[in-house]
Amino acid sequence: MLDLQFISAIVLSRHIVMAASRTQLPAWRALEQHRTALADVRLRRLFEEDPRRFDRLSVADSGILLDYSKQAVTPDTMRLLLALARECDLENSIRRLFSGERVNTTENRAALHMALRAAKPMMLDGSDVTRDVAAVLSQMKRLVAAVRNGRARGATGRKFTDIVNIGIGGSDLGPRLVCDALARDARSPLRAHFVSNVDGSSITSVLQALSPATTLVIVASKTFTTAETLTNGLTARSWLERKLRGKAAIARHLCAVSSAPARAVEFGVPAERVFKMWDWVGGRYSLWSAVGLPIALALGMARFEELRAGARAIDEHFAGAPLARNLPVLLGLLEVWNVNFRGAATRAVLPYDERLRLLPSYLQQLEMESCGKSATLDGGMVDYATAPVTWGTPGTDGQHAYFQMLHQGTAPVPADFIACCRPHHPLRRHHDMLLANFLAQTEALARGMTPDEAAASMRGQGVSEAEIMRLLPHRVFPGNRPTTSILLDALNPRTLGALIALYEHKVFVQSVIWNINAFDQWGVELGKQLANRILPELEGAAPVAGHDASTLALIRHYRVRRQGRKA
Ligand code: F6P
Repeated sequence: MLDLQFISAIVLSRHIVMAASRTQLPAWRALEQHRTALADVRLRRLFEEDPRRFDRLSVADSGILLDYSKQAVTPDTMRLLLALARECDLENSIRRLFSGERVNTTENRAALHMALRAAKPMMLDGSDVTRDVAAVLSQMKRLVAAVRNGRARGATGRKFTDIVNIGIGGSDLGPRLVCDALARDARSPLRAHFVSNVDGSSITSVLQALSPATTLVIVASKTFTTAETLTNGLTARSWLERKLRGKAAIARHLCAVSSAPARAVEFGVPAERVFKMWDWVGGRYSLWSAVGLPIALALGMARFEELRAGARAIDEHFAGAPLARNLPVLLGLLEVWNVNFRGAATRAVLPYDERLRLLPSYLQQLEMESCGKSATLDGGMVDYATAPVTWGTPGTDGQHAYFQMLHQGTAPVPADFIACCRPHHPLRRHHDMLLANFLAQTEALARGMTPDEAAASMRGQGVSEAEIMRLLPHRVFPGNRPTTSILLDALNPRTLGALIALYEHKVFVQSVIWNINAFDQWGVELGKQLANRILPELEGAAPVAGHDASTLALIRHYRVRRQGRKA
């Protein structure tokens, strides 16, 4: 076995002779100087000096308004970031992505998720993959129609009322997000439930509320080897078996989505109920494929088509719009600016819309699994930061929890604020209040409050001068905290599809600038291997050995305590 130190020595020595780092590019160096020149510039002054700042630093397309005028940038910053994009050959990289080149170099695969929603042929190795996509879509359409209109029923003849999607990561987060966002007002004949965690409490709480006779279980796993999904799948199958006798009966309640259909058939899913996916679709980019089956079942095929159409509009925009007005390019470059030139280690995603409450966790996988890398495409190591931590919760809840830190803490946290202009409910005043908070927060973060303003405000409230002096340091807001405002006209399948695709391509832009592969995820493997080794040790089927002292002690502690005995 190769020694780890040996590997890092290889990487290090290669790094020395490697192609120049991104940090050596003229535009990168110019951005470093520019950052120094901008150090004292305040956002409130930039707005005062340029009444057209919003017009200059905002773009609208596909039902999305992107306002980045509250980012700590000037038109010069944007010119330099665009120069960096050109020096990193971004336009050519976008062309290579769309033309089906094997951009996922460590797995020798293309990343053609755009073909899942394309309206015209997309080629991979000389053949049009959209034909395969269309065939799977027709298969989905047939099942969706039959289940929704009651032609396809469970083994006891009853209509399906519930779907349980069993999958994890990319086979869970996308359909879960879309169903949570849009299924509330769909008046669907089918309720969608999601089980991802191998924690037994997850599947137990979902299944105990359902009847096997009226439940359709989807096992979604690209590889069909993921331990959590297979374990949950087996538990669901036994649950079906306990009530519905016979293999044929159970088969009527099972579907699967996988790029390894034979494994799904072996699991007990009838071949005609296995929906294919392809190795050129990454798990976290797959909700547009049959992984979106819960969406199509819960919302109907027409709305699933609209979702895909929204994403398609952004694909066309990304491939065709000039870089300076290209939404994903701008979003990606702004993140590079904040991370690499302004030291941001995290970015908050703050949807001012309860229906988008799962967007931050969806984006955690999309962004951090795609760009949380240290090796460059040519096998060197980066000497600059890559993916920041993505996190967030819906507004206005966050305001009463962690916004204190956003306003007055020591770490800079850029944030994406996302909201919809038209609500989906009749409570107009609620929506105006929600948006007032959205606008107030982004304005407050940008403007801050100077000592003079803070003192004047306290004076206005009759606070004594001595008390003002004592409180002043606590009442000042530094401001200059960057935010991007993203406004959708309304939240519907089309705009949600566009929003998700916007972030997909933003991630690609960053990966090009950072010279990393956005489409592999080797970093998840080590933990999986160790868990496979530890499980038999916990079960007593293998001797507990070969761990560090902490892990050894914890394994022993657990083995004793789980029996309910004291050590
Ligand atoms: O472990 C990470 C990962 O491979 C993700 O990239 C993927 O979305 C998830 O696991 C689930 O994989 P699968 O769909 O093959 O079960």
